[in-house]
Amino acid sequence: MIYFLDTADAAAIARLCDLYPIAGVTTNPTLVAREKRPFPDVIRDIRAVIGDGAMLHVQVTGRDAETMVTEAKKLADLVGAGFHPKVPVTAEGIKAIRRLAGLGFRVTATAVVAPQQALMAAVAGAAFVAPYVNRLDMIGGDGARVVADIVHLCRVHDLGTKVLAASFKTVQQVHAVAMAGGQSVTLPPDMLEALLRHPLTDSGLAGFAADWAAAYGEGVTTLDLI
Ligand code: G3P
Repeated sequence: MIYFLDTADAAAIARLCDLYPIAGVTTNPTLVAREKRPFPDVIRDIRAVIGDGAMLHVQVTGRDAETMVTEAKKLADLVGAGFHPKVPVTAEGIKAIRRLAGLGFRVTATAVVAPQQALMAAVAGAAFVAPYVNRLDMIGGDGARVVADIVHLCRVHDLGTKVLAASFKTVQQVHAVAMAGGQSVTLPPDMLEALLRHPLTDSGLAGFAADWAAAYGEGVTTLDLI
């Protein structure tokens, strides 16, 4: 499993990258706009936090392939090594993915909600395809099923494209995607932290701490005893 953070909040990214095995950051126009700061500053701050070379996915905003390709080229200068242009799975987007892949870009096809969109993007040369799990679940779809289908399609058609599942609101959605073979997930900070949270873990650790303190003293660690 490859974990990404799905946020443009550099402070949150810094805090979580210190704790968790995070491979990179994904952004989208909404997440960047939420920061209410100049776009280049938002991207530079994320890069400064995650370090040179870590994967940073930034979405193009043009509607036609020509603009998307030009955006990706300029974004590459801004983002540096580890840049992944995110390109939507429209017809113009597929055209842009083909051209960008030919130029050596590691493209992430985004706004994926159907397996055939993902297959087309994979054949066009996308390195990642990003299915939106919660958005599907919210309208009676099955996000994890879509992920499973994409994983299967990429395998049987011998495509190296990886799933980068996005849009999560529950731990169960993340679990279902992992069980379906999705190779990576991008999570907002609260969802990443929710993966570890469990009351039985908390109560179990509280019991250990109480028993230990009763025997050896409050605040004493094994370092004090060996
Ligand atoms: O980039 C796509 C992903 O961030 C969407 O997430 O929570 O807006 O459905 P959400």
